[in-house]
Amino acid sequence: MTTALITGTTAGIGAAFAGRLAADGHNLVLVARDEKRLREQAADLHDRHGVEADVLVADLSEDDGIAAVETRLRDRTHPVDLLVNNAGFGNRDRYLEVPITDELRMLKLHCEAVLRLTSAGAETMRSRGRGGVINVASIAAFFPRGTYGASKAWVVQFTQGAAKDLAGAGVRLMALCPGFVRTEFHARAGIKQDSVPSWMWLDADRLVTAALKDFARGKSLSIPDPRYKAMSSLAKLAPRSALSSLSSKVGRPPAKA
Ligand SMILES: NC(=O)c1ccc[n+]([C@@H]2O[C@H](COP(=O)([O-])OP(=O)(O)OC[C@H]3O[C@@H](n4cnc5c(N)ncnc54)[C@H](OP(=O)(O)O)[C@@H]3O)[C@@H](O)[C@H]2O)c1
Repeated sequence: MTTALITGTTAGIGAAFAGRLAADGHNLVLVARDEKRLREQAADLHDRHGVEADVLVADLSEDDGIAAVETRLRDRTHPVDLLVNNAGFGNRDRYLEVPITDELRMLKLHCEAVLRLTSAGAETMRSRGRGGVINVASIAAFFPRGTYGASKAWVVQFTQGAAKDLAGAGVRLMALCPGFVRTEFHARAGIKQDSVPSWMWLDADRLVTAALKDFARGKSLSIPDPRYKAMSSLAKLAPRSALSSLSSKVGRPPAKA
């Protein structure tokens, strides 16, 4: 039996990954901050699918939390076959309206934690000659939108570069770029879901199914929806100024005078 370690499993896309991978017979290591939710989720997945589900409580915007997960990923006696770096959060407000401490926390979670956990996991996987990493980025990686878009652009560039460097070592890496998905993400960020047109919303379970198909096909970048694939292609051609005017408006209140 293989083991998958997923960060940010207590809600949304991470919970969908956990449910799908448990149904497919993978043992799980579930990582997030909310211990009560993690333990309930682990018991539920064990009862429904008969898999082992371990809980690792960690705040990945803190050094101690990142170090605890690195240690688990380096444990060669209980190797992790698939790592999903999914934990993340958004900010509704514009640059300079977001406290700098929140911007730094986002960079720590979206970039430093992803770098350190990918490295710890991939090193162990390379020594075994097999394994995989899925790093959850966003369609925002292709649009200028503050620290969130910039951090997700880093995830895409880093993951695709690392995938190339490790080609032939038996370790596959893929960046996943979802569009808007109905999860707790927007409520946590204070973004009203009705500020986003209904046609733009994706379902987390379907997204995960499509992402795992792309991963099995060996893709290093997954944009698992034709609407968002088209948008990312247009984003490459459109002038940056037009893109930033568009992306700075979606889901945000009007700019302060
Ligand atoms: N929803 C979307 O529209 C969308 C679109 C594109 C990309 N994404 C990306 O998809 C990923 C998952 O987002 P989601 O929509 O599923 O959000 P969500 O429903 O808010 O879930 C976020 C998960 O991350 C965990 N988390 C947050 N901060 C953490 C921290 N400091 N340390 C450890 N765990 C932490 C949360 O658990 P605890 O609170 O228990 O720690 C929760 O399990 C994120 O990287 C996000 O940027 C989302």
